Amino acid sequence: MPGKEAGARFATITGWGKCMPPAVLTNDDMSTFLDTTDEWIVSRTGMKERRVSHVPVSDLAHVATVRALAAAGVDAADVDLIIFGSCSADEAIPNTASRIQLLLDNKKAASFDLNTACTSGMYALSVASSMIRTGAVRTAVVIGAEVITTFQDWTDRDVAVLFGDGAAAFVLQGTDQDEGLLADKLGCFAESRDILRVNGIGLRYADGRTLLGTVWWDFLGQEIFKKAVMGMIEASEETIARTGLSTEQIELVVPHQANLRIIDAVIKRLGISRERVFINIHKYGNMSAATTPVAFVEAIEEGYVKPGMHILLPAFGGGLTYSAHLFRWGERTTPVSIADIDLPPCEKTGLELVREGMRRPRSGGPFQNEHYNNFSAAQSR
Ligand code: UT7
Repeated sequence: MPGKEAGARFATITGWGKCMPPAVLTNDDMSTFLDTTDEWIVSRTGMKERRVSHVPVSDLAHVATVRALAAAGVDAADVDLIIFGSCSADEAIPNTASRIQLLLDNKKAASFDLNTACTSGMYALSVASSMIRTGAVRTAVVIGAEVITTFQDWTDRDVAVLFGDGAAAFVLQGTDQDEGLLADKLGCFAESRDILRVNGIGLRYADGRTLLGTVWWDFLGQEIFKKAVMGMIEASEETIARTGLSTEQIELVVPHQANLRIIDAVIKRLGISRERVFINIHKYGNMSAATTPVAFVEAIEEGYVKPGMHILLPAFGGGLTYSAHLFRWGERTTPVSIADIDLPPCEKTGLELVREGMRRPRSGGPFQNEHYNNFSAAQSR
């Protein structure tokens, strides 16, 4: 890290890239093993299909990062900071950001993981921007990546239809131009942390279970819905107010894509019409930490982002965390170069990958496995 250099006035996005696993899982695929229909999923959520990854999350994140660096025209060796935003890290120790640093052959970056569930990539944008503005770092990579399908409960129609996999990355650099992240607001309704929980992952379950054993979700959909709308509105209003801009000056909204009805409720309250909102939920469902970053990258790639545009990104996630970011885009909307990198090919369909996942033996369950028996015997000695 460069140390005592003066900070920049703003941190701006100079590179962007995404990596979508190729295997598609449609609503009709889901109705082959769940009591659900394409009609229900589309009408209640807006989702038509989602992606299933055949590789670990760090591979998705690495490809997205290489693409973002090429888009920025930045050498991987010059990156000072890598933040991996996700709740599906390869492992707890070592962190996943360090694997990405290794794959980039970068020797100098500070690298860490950040988990605030679906808002992880957005929280990471705030942290990286602040570090650039203090002068602690010059060039940062921020990633939002997720392989939720690896710990999905495929027997639970309330949640299984909602999620998919994906990754996106941004390169952020300092600038003294009036552009980049103008304002942000991060928050958390901690009293609502119990309404979205993935049981079975984490040290809380280590007493008698492998860390990823039987997984089941606590998921109060309607409560999450209400808190999501509340948090996204609150954060958006505060963020817009901090910049002194009016809502009319927001030319593009790129929201977290968890449910089309949530997006509509938020923009209605903000007084923003659908024409100013970027939507890709029909293609990917909710990719947790990857959702808003992938949508932002696609909005740039598809020409919705114009020079000087004001862009609002409201998001929410388990915790129950929420956030909003307001960017003023710079001049360049095209990549400096395109990276020659891709994932290894996937020979299977999304449905085949899911069926394989269902057959994979799940270890654990409370007090039932050999590891626990050995552990408790050692404790009682
Ligand atoms: O990033 C954080 C992730 N979390 C979220 O974004 C969740 C936010 N919440 C939501 O998006 C919505 O609450 C859901 C999409 C999860 C559910 O929509 P809803 O309109 O709140 O439906 P509901 O929970 O009230 O369920 C209505 C009915 C129920 O049947 P009954 O009790 O009326 O007979 C459910 O059992 O729909 C049933 N249902 C389904 N039917 C077919 C629930 N899931 C399904 C399904 N297919 N997949």
